[in-house]
Amino acid sequence: MGRLDGKVTVVTGAAGGIGETTARLAHSEGASVVLADLEAGGVEKIASELGDRAVGVAVDVTKREDNERMVSAAAEKFGRLDGAFLNAGIEGEVGPFDSRSDEAWEKVFAVNVHGVRYGAEAALPLIREAGGGSLVMTSSVAGLRGAAGLSPYVASKHAVLGMARTLAVELGPEGIRVNTLNPGPVDNRMMRSIEEQAKPGHGDDVREGFIARVPMGRYVTNDECAGMVVFLLSDAASGCTGNAFVVDGGYCAH
Ligand SMILES: NC(=O)c1ccc[n+]([C@@H]2O[C@H](COP(=O)([O-])OP(=O)(O)OC[C@H]3O[C@@H](n4cnc5c(N)ncnc54)[C@H](O)[C@@H]3O)[C@@H](O)[C@H]2O)c1
Repeated sequence: MGRLDGKVTVVTGAAGGIGETTARLAHSEGASVVLADLEAGGVEKIASELGDRAVGVAVDVTKREDNERMVSAAAEKFGRLDGAFLNAGIEGEVGPFDSRSDEAWEKVFAVNVHGVRYGAEAALPLIREAGGGSLVMTSSVAGLRGAAGLSPYVASKHAVLGMARTLAVELGPEGIRVNTLNPGPVDNRMMRSIEEQAKPGHGDDVREGFIARVPMGRYVTNDECAGMVVFLLSDAASGCTGNAFVVDGGYCAH
């Protein structure tokens, strides 16, 4: 028996490191999954590998209508919606606070904050129809701490946690749980980009600096993040709402 048997969930950023790994784990735990990402090719390929109970859709989370289409795919294909992993995000450009352009701030907020908001707005009617469910939004340890050079990203990830907490308070009476996943540095594409932007040609030095701050002495993995998300989507987390669930190897323990 799977932990998500009979449940239907959408996953945004499903062609990326954490999203794909989570979609695969959720599917293996019995969920039907709508995989959403910018380009159809990647998510359709993953969905076809998964076979039954999976569909890939091209979605730009910054567009309200795309989020609605994603949720409609769940209704049309699987007849209901119990959960959403609103995970699509971008790191943006790395640089000092007072060198960031309006466009740089707007781009990061469009995806990381408004993309999550549109996803939640689109999913809520169907989750209500299902009689309750679970929203998991990807924040970060950058939603709990500052990080030099990443001001739009850090501000956006704090905003996600604020949105999740507020929604949890509003939706608790309806049996809809809302939590955030807060990963520390993950061993995947996004960290490679941040490392390389922070010190072009010497990304390894930046990586070593990050790792020196992690008590467990390594980056966390996509699998470790996926495990937390599947727990939060499952009934095992029935008492959990309004909280940040940190997967960081101890990074925030300092
Ligand atoms: N990698 C890390 O160290 C780390 C740490 C903390 C939090 N996070 C967060 O985890 C989430 C997943 O990131 P990841 O680490 O898997 O990186 P990733 O870059 O592999 O995945 C992000 C995915 O989001 C998709 N995406 C970007 N803009 C989109 C849009 N407008 N519409 C739809 N999809 C879009 C990308 O195509 C990509 O597939 C992000 O929100 C990120 O901020 C990552």
